[in-house]
Amino acid sequence: METTGTERATATDTGAAARKKVFIKTYGCQMNVYDSQRMGDALAASGYVATEEIGEADLVLLNTCHIREKAAEKVYSEIGRIRQIKKERASAGREMMIGVAGCVAQAEGQEIMSRAPAVDLVVGPQSYHRLPDVVRRARGGEKVVETDYAIEDKFEHLPELDRAQVRSRGVTAFLTIQEGCDKFCTFCVVPYTRGSEVSRPVAQIVAEAERLAAAGVREVTLLGQNVNAWHGEGPDGSEWGLGRLLFRLAEIPGIERLRYTTSHPRDMDDELIAAHRDLPALMPYLHLPVQAGSDRVLKAMNRRHTAVDYLKLIERIRGARPDIAMSGDFIVGFPGEAEADFQDTLELVRTVRYAQAFSFKYSRRPGTPGAEMDNQVPEAEKDDRLQRLQAVLAEQQREFAVSLVGREIDLLIEKPGRERGQKVGRSPWLQPVIVDEKAGEIGEIVKVRITRAGHYSLFASAT
Ligand code: SAH
Ligand code: SF4
Ligand code: F3S
Repeated sequence: METTGTERATATDTGAAARKKVFIKTYGCQMNVYDSQRMGDALAASGYVATEEIGEADLVLLNTCHIREKAAEKVYSEIGRIRQIKKERASAGREMMIGVAGCVAQAEGQEIMSRAPAVDLVVGPQSYHRLPDVVRRARGGEKVVETDYAIEDKFEHLPELDRAQVRSRGVTAFLTIQEGCDKFCTFCVVPYTRGSEVSRPVAQIVAEAERLAAAGVREVTLLGQNVNAWHGEGPDGSEWGLGRLLFRLAEIPGIERLRYTTSHPRDMDDELIAAHRDLPALMPYLHLPVQAGSDRVLKAMNRRHTAVDYLKLIERIRGARPDIAMSGDFIVGFPGEAEADFQDTLELVRTVRYAQAFSFKYSRRPGTPGAEMDNQVPEAEKDDRLQRLQAVLAEQQREFAVSLVGREIDLLIEKPGRERGQKVGRSPWLQPVIVDEKAGEIGEIVKVRITRAGHYSLFASAT
């Protein structure tokens, strides 16, 4: 799942006033959020503290997303804005380096320097463990572009999670277990920006989850571009899939809830479906993008399954876990999509009944097969379809939320609410739930009753 919001990584300030400051801004998916935290950790180890004030920063890092044209263009306008701040700092005799990381860095590399000369360093997602060295070289005046796929495993070389730093992040955490993609959907840049599928070893994942648990994390979301394609060798020498890994992680004291995202329909195996039935820690929520409901379009997208395959799969998943909340991604206006194809998408949506979904207009991405197709859909048509699809999805999301009113649920309390006297937590179905602050402590799972469904959140009272 890709999010449009931005988040800043936080690292703890160890107090020394003379230390350099880094400001990290994150675009794109949860994997970027995770990477930003790891970059913050890597830089902390070489003396940088995080700041939320861009004007204070000696180093500004933009962790970018290349998935749609708008996302990529946003980066250049942001660099333009930061260049002004850099100039102001320079006139006060203070340096500011600008770094571009993430998927735009990987896709455009050297081009970024030509288009935006204010940029001092470019570092691709496979090279984050080299960041301290990259920064050191850039400070010496070199324009550094580091976008090779490293031979060594970056996770092996990134510093271990620091307990204090994890604590500052809260009771839920992301953990990347798989990266890259071999699926080559014809609209998508990810196989080019993130490279081929790589799974992290079991022992590394378990050790990281144990450190998260020891620092107070209660809910872990396993991440991967194709997280359910994860596989690894278990301690017994046998081949493990994601289902087996989830069972292992649930044994870690303190880990109460597990989630995973994003899954591909072709990689939902029996063991993973069985985990949804047999593993109480595995939350009843599944993000399973289908993109379109027309077999013709699915074929052109190279998704390698039909609409009926997807619907049957969901039946099996619901057979294992009847209350599962389904989430999805949709693209409207893929080349060649006719009104009849779009109607198939609407029909699929009505059949599935999504609790949550993300929908996008097709964006032509250079270097992907879709960009070369000659039957592109006019922009106005895309706008119209997106509006119609989003109306149906919004209605379904609302229905799902309203169906919970009156029910008693387990709520993981996460943080103080925006308003005084409130706290916010997450339902098992990933919705934000607002309760009275006395309902429980942060990190506790408490029973509450849903009283009302608001626009974005649910409201609940202690039972
Ligand atoms: N690995 C995930 C998707 C990662 S990208 C999967 O296979 O489902 C997140 C979402 O962005 C995709 O599911 C798709 O809906 C959307 N997306 C990807 N490329 C796009 C493009 N060129 N135009 C519009 N949306 C796109
Ligand atoms: Fe992109 Fe398809 Fe891979 Fe998902 S499975 S990351 S949509 S190529
Ligand atoms: Fe964007 Fe890269 Fe994630 S293109 S969606 S940041 S994998």
